Amino acid sequence: MRWIAHLACLSGCTPKGSQAPIQLADDSLSRVLAEPFKQPRSAVDLDPNPDVLRLRLVARALPEDHPSGFRYAYNGQTPGPTIEAELGQTLEVELVNELTRGTTIHWHGLHVPNAMDGVPWQRGPVAPGATFLYRFELNQAGTFWYHPHFNTEGQVDGGLFGALIVRDPADEPADHDLVAIMDSRAEARPDPAQPVGPAHGHARLKRQWLMNGHSPGHLNVQAGERVRLRMINVSNHGYLKLNGDSARLVATDQGPLEIARWAQDEVLGPGDRAEIELLVGREPIQLSSLPYSLNGGDSLGPAQPLFEVRPSGTQPAPVPLSLRSAGRVQHPDPGYADIVWTFTGSDRTGRWYINGKRFPQITPVEVRLGQTVIIEVRNLSPTDHPYHLHGYSFEVLSRNGVAPDSPTYEDTINLAIRERVRLRIVANNPGDWMSHCHILPHAEDGMMTVLRVID
Ligand code: C2O
Ligand code: CU
Repeated sequence: MRWIAHLACLSGCTPKGSQAPIQLADDSLSRVLAEPFKQPRSAVDLDPNPDVLRLRLVARALPEDHPSGFRYAYNGQTPGPTIEAELGQTLEVELVNELTRGTTIHWHGLHVPNAMDGVPWQRGPVAPGATFLYRFELNQAGTFWYHPHFNTEGQVDGGLFGALIVRDPADEPADHDLVAIMDSRAEARPDPAQPVGPAHGHARLKRQWLMNGHSPGHLNVQAGERVRLRMINVSNHGYLKLNGDSARLVATDQGPLEIARWAQDEVLGPGDRAEIELLVGREPIQLSSLPYSLNGGDSLGPAQPLFEVRPSGTQPAPVPLSLRSAGRVQHPDPGYADIVWTFTGSDRTGRWYINGKRFPQITPVEVRLGQTVIIEVRNLSPTDHPYHLHGYSFEVLSRNGVAPDSPTYEDTINLAIRERVRLRIVANNPGDWMSHCHILPHAEDGMMTVLRVID
């Protein structure tokens, strides 16, 4: 997440007037967004105990030529069922593997016990025909997601992903609280008539974004309502760069921001989340994505429409919902790092390294339980990388030496070319934790390493 070019909007945020309107894609907006907005169905709780949310997820292949264009589904749907939970609940998920290969579920962004992390590195995947019970407590509120962590590139691309929403009952609810799982069509359904360039797709500027597995659409609302859009980028290598006047960014990977800001130009790399608040008045509000290249950021080309709210009625735009302060402390960058992870490699070779090594030929970095650890990640490759750490959220201390405006907690952070970030964790979750690039072809090639927290 980027903060530098943003004006904080303290109380109320008046829409920015200075932005030149950006040309939308070839088709006219109303035609592109003619479809109604659709959301994935929510998971069904099988346990009457209100403290326990118990679900069953069956991973299975879809028939070839399935109209969705996806190859796999959880419970027959892609995206998988949205898990809607409350802070403090225990989540129990029985994974039934009806695929012909092993699979797992990783709970992206959650501080789960190591054995529940869905990483097959040491204990192997859930075999075809087998089941596994994931069980842990939910003690972070926010927008998370779940996906396999075995044969990850192929299984996530094929359609195995879903949203996991943990609500804090203390939060003021929006009138429409929506999940928007962003995936890029070109990855899932390569069009043989359209050469797509290198397998990693970095040169493919015109991405076709899907929202919740469908073409982007519109939502009819009442003027005066508040819409919260929980965006999750599940694509293998597609970047979103948000474009939309009057869209406020109220939360990122790890819950609410201390100070909301405009979502304009917010970059959402693979694995990243952003909660957007739209305060609807009499006028429609549109959200689109500007073209963004993995090889250096901004690109030329039209914006891709993503979403539109169409109000009826004459109420004026409401005031923003109050932001629950996460009450987080901001720590200074101490000027050193305990761990340095340097990302190198290139599209020319298709080889991707952390500190010159490719997973699994790595040596875990060991730290002691309870230790405060400063991690520096450097990107010395000619490509962006979204860095992700399992089992923890990290505080972003600085980006290229510059501290953020307010406490910033993430679990996925994009590194542009030549960028260097310093991150802080308190190593209070024991085990072996994957530390990797969330561009899945890069991770698959070996751009992963391990943080070992020793009890
Ligand atoms: Cu979203 Cu290692 O994963
Ligand atoms: Cu990468």
